[in-house]
Amino acid sequence: MSQVSLRPMKPSDVPAVANIESDVFESPWSIGVLKEELGAPRRTYVVAEDKSGDLVGYAGVMIVEDDAHVTTIAVVPQMRGRGIATRLMVSLINAVLAAGARHLTLEVRESNAQAQRLYERFGMTTVGRRKNYYLNEDAVVMWATDIDSADYRERLDSIAETTEATV
Ligand SMILES: CC(C)(COP(=O)(O)OP(=O)(O)OC[C@H]1O[C@@H](n2cnc3c(N)ncnc32)[C@H](O)[C@@H]1OP(=O)(O)O)[C@@H](O)C(=O)NCCC(=O)NCCS
Repeated sequence: MSQVSLRPMKPSDVPAVANIESDVFESPWSIGVLKEELGAPRRTYVVAEDKSGDLVGYAGVMIVEDDAHVTTIAVVPQMRGRGIATRLMVSLINAVLAAGARHLTLEVRESNAQAQRLYERFGMTTVGRRKNYYLNEDAVVMWATDIDSADYRERLDSIAETTEATV
């Protein structure tokens, strides 16, 4: 049995999520922004919690027409490398597919090789760059198209099977 479980983010999770945000990101989202996001339409936010109920990660996505845009994903440093972000991504993608999205996109720092490897496992490829998207760094723009295809469903199920089995 997994020690970490996933569930939808609740408003009462926001302070804990904001703490992780400010530990992990240079320009963290405030409690206000997180609350607004959580209450906005066409959003899915999920958290990962350990057996004692502490939040160890979270991720979110926004859907605009056919496109699902991953807005944030983070795992606390001491719990990384155990497949938690992978499980968060599987959960987000299943949710956006159920909501009718057909493509997946996001921006990531060009220096963030770890995150880029995660996204590549989900079939995302670099299609462009946004100059100085972060204060002093370019963003790489990644896309996975046709995530509603049978091929992509196979990829997702295979990632989910191997990850659930090891975490
Ligand atoms: C990017 C980030 C979310 C990844 O989280 P994570 O939970 O460590 O990710 P995973 O565990 O799913 O995958 C990480 C690695 O662990 C490996 N792994 C997964 N499950 C594993 C397991 N059970 N045992 C051993 N290794 C495992 C994966 O294969 C992957 O290896 P790779 O990097 O060589 O490809 C995390 O590093 C983070 O929070 N970074 C700071 C915030 C950030 O940069 N967010 C992205 C913004 S765009």
